[in-house]
Amino acid sequence: MIKPLKKAVLPVAGLGTRFLPATKAMPKEMLPVVDKPLIQYAIDEARAAGIEEFCLITARGKDNLIDYFDVAYELEATLRGRNKVSAIEALESSSVEAGSLVAVRQQNPLGLGHAIWCARNFIGTDPFAILLPDDIVKGGRSCIAQLADVYRQTGGNVLAVNEVPPEWTDRYGVLLPGEDDGKRVEVKGLVEKPAPADAPSNLAIIGRYILTADVLEPLSHLKQGVGGEVQLTDAMAELIGKVPFHGLRYEGTRFDCGSKLGFLEAQIAMAVDREDLGQDVRAFLKKYI
Ligand code: UTP
Repeated sequence: MIKPLKKAVLPVAGLGTRFLPATKAMPKEMLPVVDKPLIQYAIDEARAAGIEEFCLITARGKDNLIDYFDVAYELEATLRGRNKVSAIEALESSSVEAGSLVAVRQQNPLGLGHAIWCARNFIGTDPFAILLPDDIVKGGRSCIAQLADVYRQTGGNVLAVNEVPPEWTDRYGVLLPGEDDGKRVEVKGLVEKPAPADAPSNLAIIGRYILTADVLEPLSHLKQGVGGEVQLTDAMAELIGKVPFHGLRYEGTRFDCGSKLGFLEAQIAMAVDREDLGQDVRAFLKKYI
């Protein structure tokens, strides 16, 4: 029986070094794209897939990520007193049902695999989604909802994948593809950050996954991989052949907001599509280019 997907893990414990000094005293995941922090995009996408249980993997200095999902009594009372209806409405998406969001500390940033292992008690034996908030996927249906569609058909593990320029394989987890219908691709192997010459393909994993709890066993060995980090890709690779494993070429455009260029692109792409901003942003861009 294929278990329903109800849970999501959102790792937010990284150091965010590429955004220093901005991230010295503020989590990268709270950086706004137009007017919503990155973490809110990930939560909205998960909700659109019917997920309502969230686990944030946080770190020291990142508590305002948890505060963000709390009720802001004083602010709301002040806004109500001033009849600021649209401002009150803007706060709505950042509230979660009591008890539906938990946070776990990853005491040391030992890698994404370690971050997921820190969520083992939340995961239990259930399937779960992983959303890395520094990736935003714009357009079409929620990316994780697209993966959930495949999961409901195949069970097992489903990864969002994307063709990347061959010279970029050393930035991603890369697939050894099996049967491929142009959209859905069987995963026969996975390699983390291979040099272009050694890469089994240019099909890369982006920050969206649906995994079964089977991955917790290989993760529990906390084996260090590329860069001395506990790599999620290595743990997933150990499961291939034992449980179904598929990649999905999702619909939508992904922005890597963990990089400066991707973050700027996301700002522009989101802003030009907004009814309240689009026209002005286009005019402004013309002026500067
Ligand atoms: P990144 O590879 O982007 O690392 O992590 P980072 O530390 O956030 O940023 P840079 O490279 O130093 O600029 C991808 C995702 O995995 C989480 C991050 O918070 C981010 O959401 N992560 C990474 C953890 O939660 N723990 C880790 O040990 C590493």
